[in-house]
Amino acid sequence: MDWALILVLQVMFQPSLSGLFFTVDAEYALYESKLGEDVVMSCRFRPKLSHPLAYLKVTWHWFTYTLVRDVYRMDNWKEDLASQDPDYQGRVRLLTEQLQEGWSKLQISRLRINDSGTYQCLVEGEGADYKTMTLSVVAPYKTVTKHIEKVAEGDDVLLICQSEGYPESSVMWQDGTLRTLNASTTSASTPDQLFTVNSRIRVSLSVENNYTCVFEKDGYSATFHMPDEIPVPPVKNNAVIVVLGIGVVMVVIIVAVLLYRRRKGSRNLLVDGRGRSVSTAACTAKNKEYKEERTVFNEGCMEETLRAFLKAHYSDYSFSMEMRHHWDAFGVEELSHRLQNNKGQPVNLQALLPEAGKTLFLEGPPGSGKTTIAHILVSSWTEGPTHALSNLFDLSSLRFLFYVDCSKVKGDLFQEVTIQLSLKDKTEHELRTLLTSEALLLLDGYREGNPFFDESLRKFLMERGRCRVLVMACPGHCPSLNNTVGTEGVLQLQTQSMKC
Ligand SMILES: *[C@@H]1O[C@H](CO)[C@@H](O)[C@H](O)[C@H]1NC(C)=O
Ligand SMILES: *[C@@H]1O[C@H](CO)[C@@H](O)[C@H](O)[C@H]1NC(C)=O
Ligand SMILES: *[C@@H]1O[C@H](CO)[C@@H](O)[C@H](O)[C@H]1NC(C)=O
Repeated sequence: MDWALILVLQVMFQPSLSGLFFTVDAEYALYESKLGEDVVMSCRFRPKLSHPLAYLKVTWHWFTYTLVRDVYRMDNWKEDLASQDPDYQGRVRLLTEQLQEGWSKLQISRLRINDSGTYQCLVEGEGADYKTMTLSVVAPYKTVTKHIEKVAEGDDVLLICQSEGYPESSVMWQDGTLRTLNASTTSASTPDQLFTVNSRIRVSLSVENNYTCVFEKDGYSATFHMPDEIPVPPVKNNAVIVVLGIGVVMVVIIVAVLLYRRRKGSRNLLVDGRGRSVSTAACTAKNKEYKEERTVFNEGCMEETLRAFLKAHYSDYSFSMEMRHHWDAFGVEELSHRLQNNKGQPVNLQALLPEAGKTLFLEGPPGSGKTTIAHILVSSWTEGPTHALSNLFDLSSLRFLFYVDCSKVKGDLFQEVTIQLSLKDKTEHELRTLLTSEALLLLDGYREGNPFFDESLRKFLMERGRCRVLVMACPGHCPSLNNTVGTEGVLQLQTQSMKC
C-alpha cells in the first residue's frame, strides 16, 4: 500500500463511515515505550464480527509526510508479509485471539528509536474505518559514566560525565552548595539514533567540593567527591618505585662509604652493621666489648652519637665549602647591621636564636643574606667555642641543630630531615623525640606550596615541645605560617645596611 492509497482511504472513509455503522477507535492516542522493550498498540472496531469467519482485513502502517512503511497486513484471516518493511521483519505480530472481541492489537518487540512516529490502524470488514496514534520510543540516560582528566598545565582538572539516551538531553552541574555551574556540553548521534551526551566542567584540584552532573531529561546523575577521587596516575607509581630504588642504592653507598672511612680511622665516626653512626669519643669503650651487631646504646650514648654524626655531616667538605662561599660574599659585620626586629630596630645576631619552644621568622628578599646566616649558625654550632664567630653567637644550649634546605623539599618534614641529614636509621618516632628536645630546626628558604611539607610542619609546630624553630623565607612566601606565628616573632634582613 502506498501513500496515495492512504490518502484515498482517508478521503473515502473519514466523513462517510466513522460514526455510522462501522467504527474504529484507538485505545490511546499516545504510546510511550523504551528502547529494546515491547509495545502493544490497540484499536477497537465496532460492531464485532457477525460470525467467526466473516471477512476481515487488518492493516497497520507507519507514516510521516514523506514516507510510509508497511508494518503489518492480514487479509481475510491470512497474514500477508510480502510487502512488510524490512525494518519490522520478525518484530511484529497481531494478537489474533483478540480479533473476535473486536480488537486489532499490534505488538512490536525490541523497539528501536526510529519506530517512533505515527501509526495508522485500518480495519475493513462489514465496513471500513481507521484511526492514528503516536508511538514515542525513548532511551533514558541511566548509566552516567564519569571520569577525570588532568589539564595539561596548571592545577585544574576536567570532570566529565557521559551518557547515551534519546531524545537529546541537557546537563546541569551543581556543586556541594547547590550552586549551578557553567558546563560545556556536546552531543553526537550513534548508529542506533541515540545521543551520546558529554558534559564537562573545569575545577581546581585544591578546592574541596562535591560536583554533581544531572541529565535533565531523566534526572539521572553522578557525583564527584573532590579531591578524594583524583586518580593516582600510574606514572606516579613508577616514579615512586624509581625513587625508592634510588633511595636503597644511596643507603647502600652511604653505608659503604662510612664503613670505609671507619676502617681508615680518618674520622671520629663509626657505623655499626645496621648503619648507626657512633662517636668514638663517647662510645668506643663500649663498642670494643661487643661485636658490631650487638652494640648496646644507652640514651646518652645515642644522643652523643647523633650529635657527632650531625657535626660530621655539617663539616663534610662539600657542605662547608658551600658555607664558606656564602660567607665570603658578605662581611659578617655587614650582616649584623642589616638585621632588625619587627619595629625596624637593629638587633644583634644572638636574637636569631629563638627561645625554647618558640618560632622565629627571618624575612628578607633574595640576596639579603639569609642562607649565609643559616650557614653561619650551622658552622657555629658544629665548631662550638673554636668557631671564628663564637663571640657573636652562643649556641651551646642546643643539643641538636637540624638544618633543612627547603628549596629542594619534596616529602614531609620528617622525610626531609631524614634524607637531607642522612638519618636513615632513625624512625620517625625517634626523630620526633630528638626534634622536640633542645633542638634548633632551621628551615632555610622555606616557601609554602608543598602540601606534604606544609601540613607536616604545621602539625609539628603544634607539638614541638622545646624545639626552637627558625624559618628563613622571602617576604610573603609563607602567609599561613606567618599568621600562626604573629608579628612578634619576625626579624627582618634588609638588603641595604642600616648604618646611619
Ligand atoms: C560531599 O559529600 C559528602 C558525602 O555525601 C559529604 O560528607 C561532604 O560533606 C560533602 N562535601 C561538600 C564540600 O559538600
Ligand atoms: C558561562 O558561559 C558563558 C558562555 O560560555 C559565558 O558567557 C558566561 O559568562 C558564563 N557564566 C559564568 C557564570 O561563568
Ligand atoms: C531504523 O534504525 C535501524 C537501526 O536501529 C536501522 O537499521 C534502520 O535502517 C532505520 N530505519 C530507518 C527508516 O531509518
